[in-house]
Amino acid sequence: MTSTTSLFSPVEADLRLLSENLKQLVGNRHPILSAAAEHLFGAGGKRLRPAIVLLISRATMLEQDITSRHRRLAEITEMIHTASLVHDDVVDESSVRRGVPTVHSLFGNRIAVLAGDFLFAQSSWYLANLDNLEVVKLLSEVIMDLAAGEIQQGLNRFDASLSIEAYLQKSYYKTASLIANSAKAAGVLSDVSSEMAQNLYYYGRHLGLAFQIVDDILDFTGSTDVLGKPSLSDLSSGNLTAPTLFALKEKPFLEVLIDREFSQEGDLEQALQLINEAKGIERARELATQNACIAVEYLADLPASESRQALVNMADYVLSRLY
Ligand code: IPE
Ligand code: IPE
Ligand code: MG
Ligand code: MG
Repeated sequence: MTSTTSLFSPVEADLRLLSENLKQLVGNRHPILSAAAEHLFGAGGKRLRPAIVLLISRATMLEQDITSRHRRLAEITEMIHTASLVHDDVVDESSVRRGVPTVHSLFGNRIAVLAGDFLFAQSSWYLANLDNLEVVKLLSEVIMDLAAGEIQQGLNRFDASLSIEAYLQKSYYKTASLIANSAKAAGVLSDVSSEMAQNLYYYGRHLGLAFQIVDDILDFTGSTDVLGKPSLSDLSSGNLTAPTLFALKEKPFLEVLIDREFSQEGDLEQALQLINEAKGIERARELATQNACIAVEYLADLPASESRQALVNMADYVLSRLY
């Protein structure tokens, strides 16, 4: 397995600086809002999205150092991601995140919603200050997509007729859009050609889809301890993800269990067994692998460098991650 430490090594120093800056960027407008935001930044997280932004920045700036705008873009990306997690945990009524209690479970739903809004608003302000209209457009679309994805997921709860295409569309909105658009934006800040910018977008899009599919598999196979967030919560709350959707094609009884929202004793266990028998996890894994391979193909025109290699290895990491 590729560990994140060796994977991120070309941008390790950059990520350290980013962690320090993030805490400062939240500011101290209101003690409760900053306490809520700092709580999550302090808890860490994998920093996957800013690492991708920084690796792309370095891979597209081989002759020069990356600029303060590239760094700020990486910070904004992590800020948007963190804001989406605060809101996602309210919607999912989730109690643990990054191994610590969620913002809403510590401060209440009202503060969590406001703290998420505050982080989104603050990232928009920093975004505007990059003074690059194209980058502003790319990242503002992400904020719309995140909300659209959560709404779509909420509307489709316990809908056994959900197609794999609709699931992938929702996953794009919730997860891949941020990775795709911030990858492209890093290229835009380096003045790459429009073809290269588009390739970076598709790299992020497919990597992001693979990442979400693996996250959805981990919800079935991981433990709360390792994941730092509750496991087995998607299925029970009616969020039908790739393993379930593949299994539904082979096991019609699964639909009956979903339609009655697992209300009878043993329903959930039976659903899990049907998903197992239908090899739902294996099929989902194939879909993730396909997307990770497509992602790497989009790096073909990027000149060889240590950072480019790390972006290639990122695809393996996404497939092999355990949390
Ligand atoms: C969690 O993202 C949300 C998903 C898109 C699955 P991460 O797994 O990257 O969360 P952190 O930032 O490492 O906590
Ligand atoms: C991704 O979806 C979360 C966001 C992009 C906000 P999940 O609902 O699968 O994320 P986890 O599993 O709670 O981290
Ligand atoms: Mg969630
Ligand atoms: Mg999940």
